[in-house]
Amino acid sequence: MSITPPTPSPASASVVSLLKEDRVFAPTAAQAASLGGAYCGSLDEYRVQHARSLADPAGFWAEVAADFEWFTPWTSVVEWNCPDAKWFVGATTNICHNAVDRHVLDGHGHEVAIIWEGEPMPNGVPEVRHISYGELLEDVSRCANALKSLGVVKGDVVTLYMGMVPELAVAMLACARIGAAHSVIFGGFPAPAIVDRMLDAASRVIITCDGAWRRGSVVALKQNVDHAIELLAAAGHTVSHSVVLRRTDNDITWNPARDVCWKELNATMSSECECEAMDSEDLLFLLYTSGSTGKPKGIRHSVGGYMVYTAFSAQQTFNLRASCGQVFWCTADIGWVTGHSYIVYGILPNRVPTLMYEGAPNFPGDDRFWEIIARHRVTHLYTAPTAIRAFMKWGDEHPAKHDLSTLKLLGSVGEPINPEAWMWYREHIGHDACPIVDTFWQTETGGHVITPLPCATPTVPGSCTLPFFGIDAAVVDEHGNELPANTGGLLVIRKPWPAMLRGIHGDRARFIDTYWSRVEGMYLAGDGARRDDRGYFWIMGRIDDVINVSGHRLGTMEVESALVSHPAVVEAAVVGMPHDIKGTGIAAFVSLAPTAIASDALKAALREHVAGVLGPIAKPDMIRFTQSLPKTRSGKIMRRLLRDVAAGRDSNQDTTTLEDFAVLAALRGNDE
Ligand code: WTA
Repeated sequence: MSITPPTPSPASASVVSLLKEDRVFAPTAAQAASLGGAYCGSLDEYRVQHARSLADPAGFWAEVAADFEWFTPWTSVVEWNCPDAKWFVGATTNICHNAVDRHVLDGHGHEVAIIWEGEPMPNGVPEVRHISYGELLEDVSRCANALKSLGVVKGDVVTLYMGMVPELAVAMLACARIGAAHSVIFGGFPAPAIVDRMLDAASRVIITCDGAWRRGSVVALKQNVDHAIELLAAAGHTVSHSVVLRRTDNDITWNPARDVCWKELNATMSSECECEAMDSEDLLFLLYTSGSTGKPKGIRHSVGGYMVYTAFSAQQTFNLRASCGQVFWCTADIGWVTGHSYIVYGILPNRVPTLMYEGAPNFPGDDRFWEIIARHRVTHLYTAPTAIRAFMKWGDEHPAKHDLSTLKLLGSVGEPINPEAWMWYREHIGHDACPIVDTFWQTETGGHVITPLPCATPTVPGSCTLPFFGIDAAVVDEHGNELPANTGGLLVIRKPWPAMLRGIHGDRARFIDTYWSRVEGMYLAGDGARRDDRGYFWIMGRIDDVINVSGHRLGTMEVESALVSHPAVVEAAVVGMPHDIKGTGIAAFVSLAPTAIASDALKAALREHVAGVLGPIAKPDMIRFTQSLPKTRSGKIMRRLLRDVAAGRDSNQDTTTLEDFAVLAALRGNDE
């Protein structure tokens, strides 16, 4: 069986042509030395340890978990009853204790936990904060007490809709401390996204900011929350409190019945709050992500397994070492899983300062990133291919004028990285001296599942290389048979791992249907992949109706529903199309109501409409109006054909099932 990726982006297109890729970059002794010494120092060592982690998962993970503090020990390491896994069964702990308290108790309270840089103001000077573990512990404890004072108890879900301010990390840790699960909503999402998520999670408390700075403008977060609360009230759901952190001092409406000022509330709280003893399997957080059907699904992660896996994967993949002058910078927003795992939970337990920034990569200038690296002497940069492609376009001179010599390791995440971008990253940012780790993983996997180890794995541009410890990844056919080298198939994971999702909140059937029914007994990642002769993995793109736009997952159906909710639209079909910077762009084929008039103004209005429902990242890059959509005789929209049309390719596919050949001809002709 061979699987054609549904969205051949520039990245995946080069992946396919990369059957010939033969550039190999072996780790060097100098790199290992600059990283403070290797955890895993050779490919042979990796192979031995990886084999052991699969043969004896209980022994392997017990050893890893012994580096964390547990309030009561586990009775068994793992219990697996497919698709339900339990890790560190019977143990209690608290992730906040392991991320913060432990370091203070060990005498490291004065060391820097979080470095934060705000968006530079018109004078060009950014606000910078260094927060030590000791300060973080006090801030988190106050916030935890504040949440308690609002009636939040263990098991509640607290919604966080904030900008990239340190208080977001504080709020997450405060929830974890008292055993409330958090549900972080990306600040770029509009009110309807808040409504869906708060309803689904039955969440009654939200923490927000008045606004967030982005490219010199204010994103009106509180206004979106107010709107969402009105919509929720209309749906019969009451939000009891909305805690508001002042950041931008924009005008906001204050509703004394439910609005609470973060600063005033926290100021009155004690800076001591005991950590709740959490069962290893208790819910740590919900994080909503797009799927191929319906509304976003709330991915459930539990305390113990997620804690152990994210911190261990961060340590191994980035070769993190405390007290070695390392500064780790993951450029993601905390609204996505990358920020959860590799800004907050995976990094803090390793006692390496984690850098958080507010704003955008190209404001006030195209060199914001390089300025940040030079200013804070960043040693580890973890960013997305879409950003790298943008930097390439903006010009080599921007990184060239800054001192990037502190960098020791580069990481990539979120989408396939095309070899051109990989090589540019290596040369212009890493100055040919830094290992690059291309980490494949998902909201559902909690942490890296396929990734090089920087001092062990020879890297090949465009490949995420080999499975992480404990991960039994394979490329299989529909029956679960492993496929030979260089054959495209389904990416699966055949054994449980500690940070795997524990379900979709409130939807058992969807959990089973999405991940566990297509190939029996195996976790289906939803990506196509192949392995090369070395056994290295090459991700070929999603096999479902999810598209990856600038590293952000979007369900094509979500965009279609958003379009159809506009009165001018009768029917819409959305597919991915190649895009130089975003990897995949959004193409929408729209048939209009008889009264609507096709025009550029309507296209612009539809783009804004989609942004209002799903956020600016979901705006179609191309809209084509069409009389009707090409369908099979059974009425299914022929998406593959639309993808070819969107990509400007001539389709040599069999179109004999087309209901009306004229539709195809019309679509080709009617260009934007
Ligand atoms: C894609 C982000 C290729 C993939 C951490 C996956 C990647 C989806 C890579 C998950 C990579 C992520 N190479 N593709 N290194 N990393 N992906 O849940 O399609 O936002 O299924 O998690 O991003 O996106 P999510």
